[in-house]
Amino acid sequence: MNLQDDLFLDAEFLRSRRNSKWKRFPDTVVPAWIADMDLKAADVVQEAIEATVRQRDYGYPRRHAIPAERIAAEAWVGWAARRHGWEVDPADVVVATDVMQACVAALLSFSEEGDGILLPTPCYPPFRSCITDSRRRLIDCPMSETPEGFRFDFEAMEAAIDDSTRMILLCNPHNPTGRVMTVEELSAVAELAEKHDLIVFVDEIHADIVYPGFRHIPLATLSSGAAARTVTATSATKSFTTPALRLALMHFGAPALRDRFEKTIPKALMGKPAITAIDASTAAWTDGDEWFDTTMSYLGTARKTVAEAVAAMPGLSLHLPESTYLAFIDCRGLGLDRPASAHFLDTARVGFSEGEGFAKGYEGWIRLNFSTAPDILGEMLTRLRAACLETAGG
Ligand SMILES: Cc1ncc(COP(=O)(O)O)c(C=O)c1O
Repeated sequence: MNLQDDLFLDAEFLRSRRNSKWKRFPDTVVPAWIADMDLKAADVVQEAIEATVRQRDYGYPRRHAIPAERIAAEAWVGWAARRHGWEVDPADVVVATDVMQACVAALLSFSEEGDGILLPTPCYPPFRSCITDSRRRLIDCPMSETPEGFRFDFEAMEAAIDDSTRMILLCNPHNPTGRVMTVEELSAVAELAEKHDLIVFVDEIHADIVYPGFRHIPLATLSSGAAARTVTATSATKSFTTPALRLALMHFGAPALRDRFEKTIPKALMGKPAITAIDASTAAWTDGDEWFDTTMSYLGTARKTVAEAVAAMPGLSLHLPESTYLAFIDCRGLGLDRPASAHFLDTARVGFSEGEGFAKGYEGWIRLNFSTAPDILGEMLTRLRAACLETAGG
């Protein structure tokens, strides 16, 4: 059997499960929104969880000399070296339960109430609430759309910095645009941070999902100067389709950063991941390479299918995502008088992520998640095309 064939789940089965992606909309809608893959999770992950379930091993987890969650941190250290050439010292890694928790914890640790936080937009929506819920001042830095795709606007970022600006929140690879930052872009971020004495929180949760021709560079590997200002967060949940199994990691690029974090954030606030999350993340990062490579090869095909289909649809365009299984699609060519996602929910019965959720002014955009089986993707694109033709012709 072709390894890829073993990845696919059918719509009836997907609908029978109890997760946000398939439960948000009525059954007549094809869901293409939240960043959750419809693919069958890796056998190595499933077997690791099943072993715990078989033993009904629901006591406080422990692995001899070290706390169980440290096993996951060590497994990631191996993955980071194999997949990204990043040699990480496990002592620099703190275990969290999810990436947005890590983001808030970093904000609380490295800034004060009222301090300014730079956020390039469009962006993954919870970044915004992390900043405002922490009572920090959100400094919105719109990215520029160029013929080659979205770019950070470093001049605007610099101009927005004032005396009370403390941090930059970065997402690389970038959701929703799919950009993978180049060494030049990362160097510009590091320079900005150095010049204005800022800490950079970088969310690298999509780091593994990078297409041929692009390379993810962990910001903390850029230079020791960059590392000394960088807090990185990641998790296995995007790459391995396990977001219900909560475990994330924070990497501190210098001991001083980790010391400050541990002095300011009580350990108990970071929570303790469940045993299933520890088992799943450990198995994924230790033995998940083959499943992940197969998945990437399918995602590459799906990405191409989406790009070709969108190119043939009137009024729609996209910049080919360099990373992620998300396509950020510009629908402004249709001249709609309401948000594109609402229009297509009605006319195509496809549930996309709302462009306006990523930034003000993006009502004319949708984000399409293409990490689903070929027939479901085909149905989604057929419906979208029919709706576009009707809208453009009508
Ligand atoms: C960029 C980014 N960061 C974080 C998350 C969510 O991470 P967590 O569930 O660990 O908070 C997502 C989920 O879509 C994401 O796209």
